[in-house]
Amino acid sequence: MKLENIIERILKNNFKIKDIISLLSLDNKDDLEVLYKKAFETMLTFTSGKIHLRAIIEFSNYCRKNCRYCGIRRGNKDQKRYRMSSEEIISVSIEAYKQGFRTVVLQSGEDLYFTKDKIGDIIKRIKEKVDIAVTLSVGERDYETYRYWKMCGADRYLMRIETTNKDLFKKLHPDDDYEYRIRCLKWIKEFGYELGTGIMLGLPKQTLEDLANDILLFKKFDADMIGCGPFLPHNGTPLFSEKMSDVNLTLKFLAVLRLVMKDINIPATTALGTIDPYGREMGLKAGCNVLMPNFTPVAYRKHYLLYNNKICIFEDANKCYQCTLERIKNVNLKASDSKGFREHS
Ligand code: 5AD
Ligand code: SF4
Ligand code: FES
Repeated sequence: MKLENIIERILKNNFKIKDIISLLSLDNKDDLEVLYKKAFETMLTFTSGKIHLRAIIEFSNYCRKNCRYCGIRRGNKDQKRYRMSSEEIISVSIEAYKQGFRTVVLQSGEDLYFTKDKIGDIIKRIKEKVDIAVTLSVGERDYETYRYWKMCGADRYLMRIETTNKDLFKKLHPDDDYEYRIRCLKWIKEFGYELGTGIMLGLPKQTLEDLANDILLFKKFDADMIGCGPFLPHNGTPLFSEKMSDVNLTLKFLAVLRLVMKDINIPATTALGTIDPYGREMGLKAGCNVLMPNFTPVAYRKHYLLYNNKICIFEDANKCYQCTLERIKNVNLKASDSKGFREHS
């Protein structure tokens, strides 16, 4: 089957899972160029074509869970732990607004010190002071908590499914239940948040068929944002000796995702920037339309190491902001100045 025909079928929403698998299997340089070019054009046609910026604030690295891949898992006793105060989270969010960001992403480990009321209060106080979209990324909670945070003014929620292969999910997540994660994602959508989810690529034993199923699930959920990055080992985890993923697999996946879900927001992630110094630029050229510079105060950054060699640990917020603008310019794109909600086509 000709590559162009497969791409055409996907764009017309008339495809089978084997079409996705065949695109994910491409390894010829010319074919990959065709795929990335089509994904890039799709991004330009179905989104504003401008790159949305999200300031990410990693406000606590305490975590009650022990995901096998993650550097801040509770079992990593070598990890020094920190929490920012509510006041600091709010003032850093206001700083992000002043810097020019119109979305702040509040991310942490699963830290129940930050109760439903504490986080609700943070959202309300940010929203009182500045007109900025608030994305939460704090993991699994209950129905009532998600409902309450939406009422407090949260706009988006980000929680990856990590993999839709249930066996693999179970092996990687000793504390989690796949069905409960799915239920959370459904609630989040139902409460009217923009829903962000995603996976890691190149997990041990993950197959191309798994990845194709991941895309089908995103489509079924009509997720508004999909954040994906390569799996990278961390020395303080049981997966320390696994091999890291390769950049091309992530780029192919992002490009196919763009063809399938034409108008969604897709970030070129920090993990993609870690695996290759030009990973984020390549991501933008393969259909991504979001960048999420680190806005965490510099003193905390070195303690939020989910994987080895994470970038932006010694730089400060302004440096990352300027660096991000520079990268956007390098690929002849422009930064958006809107809140960057999904532009349904
Ligand atoms: N490699 C790549 N990504 C990771 N994450 C956690 N640990 C790793 C790792 N070792 C990702 C997970 C999580 C997100 C916050 O970071 O996908 O959802
Ligand atoms: Fe905690 Fe999230 Fe890391 Fe799992 S992936 S250990 S829930 S921070
Ligand atoms: Fe942080 Fe480039 S984005 S240094």
